[in-house]
Amino acid sequence: MTEAPKSAGTATLTYGDTSVELPVMAGSTGPNVIDIRKMYAATDAFTFDPGFTSTAACESALTYIDGDVGTLLHRGYPIDQLASKSSFLEVCHLLLHGELPTASEFAAFENIVTRHTMLHSQFDRFFEGFRRDAHPMAIMVGTVGALSAFYHDSLDIHDARQREISAIRLIAKMPTIAARAYKYHIGQPFVTPRNELSYSENFLRMCFAVPAEDYEVNPVLAKAMDRIFILHADHEQNASTSTVRLAGSSGANPFACIAAGIACLWGPSHGGANEEALNMLKEIGTPDKIPEFIEGVKAKKYKLMGFGHRVYKNYDPRAKVMKESADEVLAAVGDPNDPLFQVAKELERIALNDEYFIERKLFPNVDFYSGITLSAMGFPTSMFTVLFSLARTVGWIAQWQEMMADPSQKIGRPRQLYTGPTERDYVPIQQRG
Ligand code: ACO
Repeated sequence: MTEAPKSAGTATLTYGDTSVELPVMAGSTGPNVIDIRKMYAATDAFTFDPGFTSTAACESALTYIDGDVGTLLHRGYPIDQLASKSSFLEVCHLLLHGELPTASEFAAFENIVTRHTMLHSQFDRFFEGFRRDAHPMAIMVGTVGALSAFYHDSLDIHDARQREISAIRLIAKMPTIAARAYKYHIGQPFVTPRNELSYSENFLRMCFAVPAEDYEVNPVLAKAMDRIFILHADHEQNASTSTVRLAGSSGANPFACIAAGIACLWGPSHGGANEEALNMLKEIGTPDKIPEFIEGVKAKKYKLMGFGHRVYKNYDPRAKVMKESADEVLAAVGDPNDPLFQVAKELERIALNDEYFIERKLFPNVDFYSGITLSAMGFPTSMFTVLFSLARTVGWIAQWQEMMADPSQKIGRPRQLYTGPTERDYVPIQQRG
């Protein structure tokens, strides 16, 4: 269902005495792009776009976002339909292979993922090298990168079959690694994966079961977990995905590329935002403190975490679904009258009606409600970004696969506007004043 880009005329760029016709290309939907690849040769000038706010760096058929409307589609399917009707593994198949699986395709896919969840037994010793108080994301960056030292038989990036095996290994082993990072952090023994459980049930069990008593997965929590994974599965060319693509463009192995993505995701402006959003709700404490807090935001003392998005200038479609899950989880295991939830609802109400936020098109993003939900499920804030990285692994690896299969792929190498000193002569230390 991938469409080749179509020609959509040309754009004329006039710079100094030079006028250059640049091809314009149209994708299947979304804004056209002006192809500037020949611009430097024709004009001797670069484009300047810090943060890539106007630059398409690749062609992709995976995910489409219309941030003005608040649309998110994976391979054409709206995220709310996937979140309410599908399962995470089905979405993984969709992202990796382009289509929803038939029943037999799904059974085969589920079977292969389920049978790759175990880790090399030597891998477990790797965790011991970390201090107990290590942030689980630090453990994730290190251990996921280390997969490349354990699975040499799927490192040939030019072999499509090996790329596929690496993708399966990553999707399958990520929950086991994430759960071990958590168990190590809290000083509990590791829990071995169970093949009779679903992907999300298995992950919850590996996080919360202890040898001292039986653990039964609460189906409401398993459903919410699966939904959270679906909501975070892919999100077009965001910072961590672009990091994975850039790392992969040099020919680095997939495990190293995903470790690079995890490192990028860790930042508070990206994956770390739900942790920050929950901390902010705790800091506010009660709804009556909200007006004072909002004044601080307007005075630009701090940001309203969980609000705003580089692409969505409307309600994040994932936030709507996340809010539903927050309600379900709080009704099942938490307190729907939890002051944090009350603060969140009131904060959202006030912000959506306040001119400052309306003018800047600042709406709640997915992180606004995911922190409360994960906290009610029993996860400490330090695990929030870990869960995000677990879910996003499929998006990263699907984007990496897409890039590796693209014959026009080349090493990523942005240019710069140089503002440092021009050439000057070295001065011996004795002569420097
Ligand atoms: N609270 C208050 N004001 C904000 C916020 C916010 N969360 N976000 C943006 N603004 C304001 C800016 O101060 C700026 O105001 P100005 O025009 O008066 O200077 C205006 O809105 C535009 O903001 P930019 O910084 O240009 O927006 P950008 O697209 O670069 O930033 C970002 C997007 C980084 C997500 C930002 O909104 C933010 O920091 N939000 C809080 C962190 C967060 O929730 N991140 C999660 C992103 S979603 C994800 O990763 C899954």
